Parts: sequence; C-alpha cells; structure tokens
Amino acid sequence: MATKRDFLSLDDLPEVEFRALLARAIELKDMRSRGEVCQPLLGQTLAMIFEKASTRTRVSFEVGMFELGGHAVYLAGQGSQIGRGEPIADTARVLSGYCSGILIRTFGQERLEELAKWATVPVLNGLTDMFHPCQILADLQTVLELRGTIDGLRYCWIGDGNNMAHSWIKAAAILGLDLALACPDGYKPNESVVLAAQSRMRDSGRGSLKIVDEPAEAVSTSDVISTDVWASMGQEDEAAARRKAFAHYCLDSSLLMQANSGAHVLHCLPAHRGEEITAEVLEGEQSAVFRQAQNRLHAQKAVLEAFLGANV
Ligand code: CP
Ligand code: NVA
Repeated sequence: MATKRDFLSLDDLPEVEFRALLARAIELKDMRSRGEVCQPLLGQTLAMIFEKASTRTRVSFEVGMFELGGHAVYLAGQGSQIGRGEPIADTARVLSGYCSGILIRTFGQERLEELAKWATVPVLNGLTDMFHPCQILADLQTVLELRGTIDGLRYCWIGDGNNMAHSWIKAAAILGLDLALACPDGYKPNESVVLAAQSRMRDSGRGSLKIVDEPAEAVSTSDVISTDVWASMGQEDEAAARRKAFAHYCLDSSLLMQANSGAHVLHCLPAHRGEEITAEVLEGEQSAVFRQAQNRLHAQKAVLEAFLGANV
C-alpha cells in the first residue's frame, strides 16, 4: 500500500498539483454533465466526522464518494462515541481498519493533526477553526470557469481574518496571487499564517499580500471579492460584539461599485443577508455564489481522487 497522504491544509498541495486539481474538477464536472461514469474509488469508504454543522461539505463529499464508486459513512460528534469523549487517537485507529479515508470537520487544527497522526489512512480537512482548504478549491474552480484563468487577477477578502481568510492567504502564497484583506483590528488573520505566506512570496518572487483596515481600500481594483460570516461556528457567543466590530464591513452595492467592472462576488455560505453581505449583492448579477457552492461537488471529487485514489 502506498504511503498515506493527508490534506490538512493547502500546504499539502504543491502548486502543480493544486492547478491540476482545479482543471480536474472542471473535467469531472464536464464528464458528469455528459452522463459519463467515472468510478476510480470502487469499493472504498470514507468516514466523515462532523463536530460542527454542515450542508455543503457533508453532501458534496457524500455524493462525491457515491459518484466515484465508493461509499461514505457520516458520524456526528453527538450520536457517536466521539461526543462522549472517546479519544480521537482511538477513533483514528478503529476507523482506519474499516475505511479508506477520514474526513473531519472540527474545532482546533491540533485535533485534526492528532487524528492524522494516528490514522493509517488519508485524513481530509473538512474545516477547522484555522483552515477550510476544500472550500478554496471550489472557489478557485469557479474563478477559473468564469475568467479562463486564476492568474493576473486581483483578489480581496472583506471581514473576519478567519479559517477562510487563512486559506485564501495560503492559496495566494502557493499560486502567486495578489490578495488584499480588509479586517477590523482584533480580527486580523493569524500572524504566523501571514508571515509564512509573505516569506513564500518573497522567495518565489510571485504574489502579494496586503492587510488593511478599510474595506474600500481592499476592494478597489479587485476582480474577485470574497466575504464570510462575522461569527464562525463556535463563536456564537461573540456574535453581538462582532456585529459592532464589523459594522462597516458589509459587502453592499456601493462597496462593490469600487471594484473593477465585472468583478465576481464569492461567499462560501451560509450567508447572513444584511450583515456581511446584502441580499442585493448576494442575489445580484456579479454574484457567483451558487455556482461556487455547486462546484464543491466537483472540487471535492477531485480531492477524493487525488488523496484516496493514490491509495487504491
Ligand atoms: N461552505 C461550507 O463549508 O458549507 P457547509 O458549512 O454547509 O458545509
Ligand atoms: N467561517 C465559517 C465558514 C463556514 C463554512 C465557519 O467556520 O463557520
């Protein structure tokens, strides 16, 4: 059996493979639309542990496994022994005997890393407090479809310096993209993520990272604008304080007008209309949000092929 390969953050995808995976996601989408069957994961099973809620991630991976010829088993924190405190190291060793891979959505990145340390099958990050790498693949697939390239564009992020922002920063460093983020004080992205990206950009001589306070400054001359909820899962108690801190970080039509003409709006969903984004922008002509959400299926199938397929 080949050495197992985990997908814990975008750092696990070298640039060439990252780009190939985006192209493969589009290819899988085209094949599906032609009714072509592609089942490289026949007989394989993915365990999917969710310690937080999910609609898109759960369904795209479960349908993805089915369409690739495999099967998925869903385990909620509550309702399995995980929620009753069974150590993740024990769960990892047990599931490794039944399944070909384990997807987990959890809180700290260290919990994902602990699972990966003990599992003998590939472990996939279905979102942690720190990163959401699978989402970024669907986001960039969407840009590639709409613009024909992901290069030479200006990307921006408005709002919380959260798991999605961190994943955009990693993607920019790996792919050499120009990214500006506008986040309020106290909610800027993690410093170690920023420093690592800046160092990689310096070494490669490609990509740029700008972190500013004002949304208008980040949006100005952008081609792709992303935002996300102000209070992520696990931060529900902070929602009121965050609503105050983020009050002028709403992506509305006057902010959007400051971007390049034809700029695309992305949001990983779920969205809070009237908070981080207005209904007008979310439902407007420049929004690619539902294409982006639907692309999760194709991007996640490409992830499954890349990380589980190698283990066949
Ligand atoms: N964007 C995303 O991960 O959605 P879910 O929380 O529904 O999985
Ligand atoms: N930042 C959000 C993303 C949800 C897909 C969260 O972690 O809740």
